[in-house]
Amino acid sequence: MASLKEEISRRRTFAIISHPDAGKTTLTEKFLLYGGAIAQAGEVKGKRARAATSDWMEIEKQRGISVTSSVMQFRHNGFCINILDTPGHQDFSEDTYRTLMAADSAVMVIDGAKGVEPQTRKLFKVCALRHIPIFTFVNKMDRETRDPLELCEEVERELGIATYPMNWPIGCGREFKGVYDREKKRILHFTDAGHAQKAAVTEAELDDPALPELIGEKLTDILRDDVELLGAGAEFDLEAVRCGKLSPVFFGSALTNFGVEPFLESFLRMTPPPLSRQSDEGLVDAFSPDFSAFVFKIQANMNKAHRDRLAFMRICSGKFEREAEYYHVQSGKKMRLSQPQAMMAAEREIVDEAYAGDIIGVFDPGIFSIGDTVTVPGKKFRYSGIPSFEPELFRSVSPKDTMKRKQFIKGVQQIAQEGAIQIFKFPGSGYEDIVVGVVGALQFDVFEYRMRSEYGVELRMEGLPYSHLIRIKGYEGDYRDMTLCTDSRVLQDLRDRYFIAYCGAWSLGFLTKHNPGLVLDDQLSV
Ligand code: G4P
Repeated sequence: MASLKEEISRRRTFAIISHPDAGKTTLTEKFLLYGGAIAQAGEVKGKRARAATSDWMEIEKQRGISVTSSVMQFRHNGFCINILDTPGHQDFSEDTYRTLMAADSAVMVIDGAKGVEPQTRKLFKVCALRHIPIFTFVNKMDRETRDPLELCEEVERELGIATYPMNWPIGCGREFKGVYDREKKRILHFTDAGHAQKAAVTEAELDDPALPELIGEKLTDILRDDVELLGAGAEFDLEAVRCGKLSPVFFGSALTNFGVEPFLESFLRMTPPPLSRQSDEGLVDAFSPDFSAFVFKIQANMNKAHRDRLAFMRICSGKFEREAEYYHVQSGKKMRLSQPQAMMAAEREIVDEAYAGDIIGVFDPGIFSIGDTVTVPGKKFRYSGIPSFEPELFRSVSPKDTMKRKQFIKGVQQIAQEGAIQIFKFPGSGYEDIVVGVVGALQFDVFEYRMRSEYGVELRMEGLPYSHLIRIKGYEGDYRDMTLCTDSRVLQDLRDRYFIAYCGAWSLGFLTKHNPGLVLDDQLSV
């Protein structure tokens, strides 16, 4: 049997981030194909569709999108891989951001024709906050793409991270023949074996006289020149990768499987095993035998008949055992974690044990909140909280039927405590007329649906013009008497903190100018 150290050392837990349509789902599926978790590409989507039977999934079915982030585990070449999936639709939510808190590294998929897109930028920013390693996969090389060098420069310029091409594409579009592996100093020439099957590969040296026969005269000349040019660039620096300062770049095509396998192999070698994590009592070593985890996501009512809630935890240290007793730090209660589940490829399974790096979903009787810590009895440290992210969309919300005031307040507060939405009230008034802030518009749909189905309350919602929220760090006067411009408003949250919802930089200038003593917090998270 493998030791605790061996088990943890083989864990690799990462998220795949991208703008919708760049190819995240396709790449994930190809990882599963190469990892042997599925025999043929195409299975993941099929299974996912079949699994969408619960009420909660109704919205997903209607909109044809994935509301919730999921996680998939598989084994490959001695590694135990956990892929955290983040919804790729533009209606993504705070869940997407929070999922990144559970990852040790990220794979950023970029469409070779489009380059860095808005959602790539947003998700990158959250990863960069944690200084986790970020690997770039430039996808869709089987189509006409932009110049590879220009794409690397765009990543550097737009995202502020240095890049190092690990391989170099040989042609693009119909002419895409393969890649030159800079580490092995070899050409990997691929042949399409059908999209559902692994691509066949022939290797060759750069100075092989038979190369023009394999990839053509023109591409041989271009490749030899490109490789020489690349050689003049900076040296590869693994340390810089590990602290998120340098992104290794790979080119390929997830659809045709070209370059997927070399990417997976190289990525797995470079991406770190679970690292120590910061708690309020110092760093917690992932290899310590004591189990500890934090809750990064709560998913309620996955099955309406059972009113179940699942709390997803990232195990940060030690080993989880199904029968063991654990300690929930925030409530001060000892407990068993019931129905612990892991997601294998696209299916759920009850697990008896799991290790640092793994994600488990456990039944939540309503005690967990986002960011909570679970440890072994006797330990009381807390992992640093998960930030909530600045909402970008706001609506004023009240119950259609004023008789339902009580249920309304109960519903909005519970849903806000789960972290599905952020709620605010106006200073000096109650919670019967609130402002809801979200990161993605889909959260409004989920909120409305849940208020109706779980609390029996129909909502009246009105869009508000604000697009930003900033926390007030200090202000000596009465918040109700503040001088505001028309497109800004003071809001108060459940923890009695004050914020200003506003539209643009101009409003901030106005507010600071007209309210002496006003100090604003310019952090990304609120
Ligand atoms: P996402 O999860 O990032 O949103 O993207 P997804 O993998 O769903 O891919 C979006 C579209 O791009 C899909 O086409 C997919 O087949 C295609 N695609 C992904 N990787 C590649 C690639 O390497 N080359 C090419 N040419 N296309 C690629 P679709 O027509 O929207 O969907 P489908 O009907 O093919 O599933």
